[in-house]
Amino acid sequence: MVSRETSNGSSGLRSNDSNRTNETHNERNTRGGVTLDIKRVGVVGCGLMGSGIAEVAAKSGFDVVVREVTDDFLERGRARIRKSLDRAVDKEKLTTEDRDDALGRLTYTTSVDDLAECDIVIEAIVEDLSAKNELFQRLDELCGENTIFASNTSSLTITDMAAATDRPDRFVGLHFFNPVPVMKLVEVVKTIATSQETFDRAFEFSEALGKVPIAAKDNSGFVVNLLLVPYMLDAIRQLERGVASIKDIDTGMQLGCGYPMGPFVLCDFVGIDTLYRISEIMFEEYREERYAPPPLLKRIVSMGRYGRKTGKGFYDWSGDEPVPLPV
Ligand code: CAA
Ligand code: NAD
Repeated sequence: MVSRETSNGSSGLRSNDSNRTNETHNERNTRGGVTLDIKRVGVVGCGLMGSGIAEVAAKSGFDVVVREVTDDFLERGRARIRKSLDRAVDKEKLTTEDRDDALGRLTYTTSVDDLAECDIVIEAIVEDLSAKNELFQRLDELCGENTIFASNTSSLTITDMAAATDRPDRFVGLHFFNPVPVMKLVEVVKTIATSQETFDRAFEFSEALGKVPIAAKDNSGFVVNLLLVPYMLDAIRQLERGVASIKDIDTGMQLGCGYPMGPFVLCDFVGIDTLYRISEIMFEEYREERYAPPPLLKRIVSMGRYGRKTGKGFYDWSGDEPVPLPV
């Protein structure tokens, strides 16, 4: 199913507009006299990250095709994007006209085939190498030779995905941060096979999204997660040892260090299932204890408490204020 959201929130059939140019994007995205040759962006996965990436790309003037696995997931992702854009309007960060323009640039599909004409495809599906490789191999058959493949992975190496395709030279990491509409950083990851041209296009594309890109080496965790993931896991280990309560550890880091949120709110924010997968992958890569998933993390995943996105994680998010849950 392919559908486009209209400004009143309803969906309609997509028109054949693959040659549509976008003034907003073309006007802004010129550097050194060269226009960035990316116009149509594919985003695969419309969960926490994919919905944010799609929203930012549409707001920046790109035509965006979003792919999810089922109509239900697609609908949830669409609602998340809509809510975030409405929130920006309420906060007077976006005009209603700009919101409607952004909504008009988004099309939604459950078919991978609809990504065939994209100039760049950004993958933001579950943190699982075989799922990602299956997707990229299919995309490799479909997309044109100039199409860049990008993964938003938190912890896998880009090399392990690029090597499964016939275009390792046109494969980069584009690691966005949660919540994507707010966090300015994108890590642009170059493997030993990524061509300089592809890296430059991906870097310029990140700037065209209004982000601040940094160059990162293709090691598991890139720059930020190498530091951030052990910090979150250490907080869980502290909790396991009974050093302090969830709430007090969070208050400690917020008020003692000025962090915008404590480590347990952050874990719930990232997603407990995702954090567990990240931890397993980083531990497998480095075989260092600091990346190993603490048993408590595993127990919480087993209970289906995936964090804020499912309403429960370290906290219960169903009320006005998060309430710490038993651990
Ligand atoms: N979508 C869009 N905008 C959002 C948003 C969302 N989901 N959440 C918050 N905002 C905006 C708000 O509209 C608000 O904007 P204004 O200041 O212009 O009004 C601003 O962000 C601040 O929001 P709030 O006042 O509601 O709340 P806050 O002050 O607590 O800020 C926060 C929220 C920006 C998320 C802040 O708590 C924060 O920066 N937290 C840390 C986030 C972080 O560490 N992210 C990295 C996670 S790790 C990762 O992403 C990598 C990985 O691979 C796992
Ligand atoms: P999420 O669970 O919120 O969303 C993943 C989505 O992908 C789900 O909606 C699922 O239905 C969909 N999906 C699965 N297989 C698919 C396929 N083949 N095609 C299309 N859709 C598919 O996860 P998330 O937090 O958005 O994480 C997505 C990726 O981004 C992961 O690689 C994660 O490590 C990375 N990441 C996460 C964060 C974070 O804070 N959560 C930050 C940066 C990077």
